[in-house]
Amino acid sequence: MIEFRHVDFSIDGNAILRDVSFSVARGRTTVILGPSGSGKSTILRLLLGLYHPDAGSIFVDGVDVTHINASRWREIRSRMGMVFQQGALFDSMTVGENVGYALLEANGDDEVEVAPAVRHYLELVGLDPYLIDRMPDQLSGGMQRRVAIARALAARDPMILLYDEPTTGLDPQSAERITDLIVQLRDQQGKTAIMVTHDIPDAFKVADAMTILEQGRVVFEGSPDALISVSTPFINQFLAPFRTAMGAASRRFEAATRRGAPPRTDPQRGGTP
Ligand SMILES: Nc1ncnc2c1ncn2[C@@H]1O[C@H](COP(=O)(O)OP(=O)(O)OP(=O)(O)O)[C@@H](O)[C@H]1O
Ligand SMILES: [Mg+2]
Repeated sequence: MIEFRHVDFSIDGNAILRDVSFSVARGRTTVILGPSGSGKSTILRLLLGLYHPDAGSIFVDGVDVTHINASRWREIRSRMGMVFQQGALFDSMTVGENVGYALLEANGDDEVEVAPAVRHYLELVGLDPYLIDRMPDQLSGGMQRRVAIARALAARDPMILLYDEPTTGLDPQSAERITDLIVQLRDQQGKTAIMVTHDIPDAFKVADAMTILEQGRVVFEGSPDALISVSTPFINQFLAPFRTAMGAASRRFEAATRRGAPPRTDPQRGGTP
């Protein structure tokens, strides 16, 4: 469905991506992980045709899009919905206008019943349709991200969704609602997706496959299960905080169950009693 084959990309002579290859199967979610500046968003920009590779090829639905013209790009792009880093809503427009604008732009002059369609997409992302007249700054960060996802869906109901750090800056519960929504769009609507993140637990929640970048190079491509057993210095260092947290949690759980009591959280340290 989506494939990068040996893609090189540079800006002003600086290599940003080097020999990047990975693929995303239809109806599956691939997570691109990596430190800040490793080239994750650049991969999405190449996929949207905003940048073009210096070498290598990009395939979408079996078509080599590397050298296609602008009008073919418009058609390919119309199959993709993008959820930008930070959500990026128009803050002077209401929720309904943000979603409705995408709908009208995608449908051109065709007759569309905007308000019912907007309400449909708000419901689809788990937002109450009464929010249609709110301004973005009257919503929580998590709700704004969901509006951004509704907007991406409203623009042409794309089969491919690209999420750039959809949970960054959200509290754990709001982040969980977003990852649940991403999983739901895959399982119930068959969407193919790429989610860019540097949050490892979120990555494990949604990923069918993972691609890890280090300074523009792919250092891992495979299933989440395969990642667990990889041991290279970079991957070990990258996963270390996650493994430490998981190890501590499971040791605590084992100790508590050995004592015959359920694991207890400490209210003084912010846990739920
Ligand atoms: N327009 C540009 N001009 C020059 N350098 C750029 C440009 N866009 C990106 N870069 C560089 O390319 C590299 C990769 O950027 P990219 O935005 O893809 O990183 P990222 O992995 O998405 O990082 P983050 O997690 O911070 O969003 C960075 O070193 C960045 O400085
Ligand atoms: Mg980025």
